[in-house]
Amino acid sequence: MTSDLSLQEALAARRSNRDFTGRAVPLESLQRLVGAAQGVTGAEGQRTAPSAHALYPLGLRLVAGEVEGLEAGLYEVEAEQAPRLLKAGDLRPALQEAALEEQPWVGGAAAILAICADMEAVRQHFAEQPPLGERGSRYVYIEAGAAAQNALLQVAADGLGGVLVAGFDDQATAEVLGLEAPFAPLLYLCLGWPTQAE
Ligand SMILES: Cc1cc2nc3c(=O)[nH]c(=O)nc-3n(C[C@H](O)[C@H](O)[C@H](O)COP(=O)(O)O)c2cc1C
Repeated sequence: MTSDLSLQEALAARRSNRDFTGRAVPLESLQRLVGAAQGVTGAEGQRTAPSAHALYPLGLRLVAGEVEGLEAGLYEVEAEQAPRLLKAGDLRPALQEAALEEQPWVGGAAAILAICADMEAVRQHFAEQPPLGERGSRYVYIEAGAAAQNALLQVAADGLGGVLVAGFDDQATAEVLGLEAPFAPLLYLCLGWPTQAE
């Protein structure tokens, strides 16, 4: 499925959606989201989202539950690449358990796309710039936000529903996502078919 929405229409349609039908989402839709978030669009590796000093510290992980053509599990995902299975099984309940407060849309999403980063590499790269030690992390958060909004506009354009979640226990979430320091989760997008179009 492709979209006929203009950018203006996708901007107007974007809303946080936390109620999903449970119907499987197409793998190609998820691959479009990955391409929107971190697609490589330039000969020198430039991407759909800007990156301070072109360091590109972000990495994407997919928790697949109900995805057409993909067994439930944890995947490493990159634009234009087939998802790489890291761990089989339905990890949505464990991810929901690691969220702060009750967030049933984590377990109810068809899939969850997580944006992670090597924060430490960027902090070291910008260590000499004030505010000392903080500039690098600030840049990574900004970059993750840009990538997330790109993906959310693609969600809207595809008629899917999604919500950005950043309220989670960092350590527990990193464990579910199979991340080891210095990689850490920054946010994730819960995705699925919305129960009602707004
Ligand atoms: C940094 C950030 C963190 C967020 N964390 C959560 C979250 O943990 N759980 C959640 O359900 N929504 C989360 N949201 C979504 C907001 O609740 C939502 O964007 C807001 O209510 C406005 O609604 P709208 O997105 O439909 O315009 C977050 C949004 C941002 C920007």
